[in-house]
Amino acid sequence: MKECKIIIMGFGSVGQGIANAISLKKEMINEKYGVQLKVVAVADSSTSAICQDGLDEKLLIDIKKSEGKLSAYPDCGNNMSGIDVLDAVEYDLLMEATPTNIETAEPALSLTLKAFEQGKDVVTSNKGHLAIKFSEVIQAAEENGVEFKYEASVGGAMPIINFTRETLSSCGIKSIIGILNGTTNYILSRMTSEGSSYDITLRESQELGIAETDPTQDVEGIDAACKTVILANSLLGIDATYDDVTVEGISSITSQAIDLAKKDGYLIKLIAEVSQDNLKVSPRLVKKGSSYDVNGTLNMATIKTDLAGDITVMGLGAGSLETASAMLTDVISILKNKY
Ligand SMILES: NC(=O)c1ccc[n+]([C@@H]2O[C@H](COP(=O)([O-])OP(=O)(O)OC[C@H]3O[C@@H](n4cnc5c(N)ncnc54)[C@H](OP(=O)(O)O)[C@@H]3O)[C@@H](O)[C@H]2O)c1
Repeated sequence: MKECKIIIMGFGSVGQGIANAISLKKEMINEKYGVQLKVVAVADSSTSAICQDGLDEKLLIDIKKSEGKLSAYPDCGNNMSGIDVLDAVEYDLLMEATPTNIETAEPALSLTLKAFEQGKDVVTSNKGHLAIKFSEVIQAAEENGVEFKYEASVGGAMPIINFTRETLSSCGIKSIIGILNGTTNYILSRMTSEGSSYDITLRESQELGIAETDPTQDVEGIDAACKTVILANSLLGIDATYDDVTVEGISSITSQAIDLAKKDGYLIKLIAEVSQDNLKVSPRLVKKGSSYDVNGTLNMATIKTDLAGDITVMGLGAGSLETASAMLTDVISILKNKY
């Protein structure tokens, strides 16, 4: 039987979602594609569990939740992490879910390039290396003859990159305009439905765990700008980096501005635009009842094509199992191509 030996790097929300998704779907994948997925190593920021015979996905999650570190995994836990893990185990595919870093792109950049050098395929949910080093990373994957997939980096579970490349492959893509950040969409939706101020709504979102303790990346549009760069490079062939995007967030939006818009039949949304002459993230007025009128943490995007007209996709932009589902779909696509 064919085997695909997997390393999961980063074991927070998404990493644990990957373990959960593998545990739920490995039997189906084996039956349908004839490949046995085996998790041979999992690492967090300072510890790991490594076992060439395979680790138990549920036990990994239980141990991380109860002990806070993977070194507590019976017999296989240790204090190794990062690149050392890639050298310590025989594997086929790296599933990378470490924190996004748009200053240095690390640790994702070094981990990914190392895996490529080792001839391994990589699936990621990380935006950092894609937003600031897109062409370098893609070129390195090509030079090493490996597969590199990153559907989950934009829109979590919302299908956009593979969908546009594969299902819309007959079409030229003129632009993509959409809502690519769930946290800001949640804040703006709540401000609209409740008439509450930005500060109060942000605080409530933080209490609910929707906004992070430091919300800067989301509310200042940085996260959406990273996704704009990824879409520009991967779907419109624009050689862009983060610095090419004009970015304005939502922190200065007042409840009065939202009320005024509402009276005229409009909503204020944080909109990302990707086209040959515009890479932009900014609050914009959209018509109530239009395809941009989506609430809560949902993401959406309208892909404007030359042959098929406008196609709109929508889905959950974040979440542990939801994001992992996009990564597992990437893994299946690699299995179909290679195994
Ligand atoms: N959360 C979502 O819904 C979502 C959706 C789409 C994309 N993403 C992207 O997916 C990635 C992971 O997100 P997340 O929400 O899972 O983050 P998270 O909950 O903060 O988890 C990050 C994990 O990476 C580990 N880590 C940190 N530095 C590391 C290193 N040098 N080597 C190995 N592991 C390291 C952390 O270790 P410790 O456990 O020891 O702290 C933690 O386990 C991010 O790049 C994010 O932008 C997330």
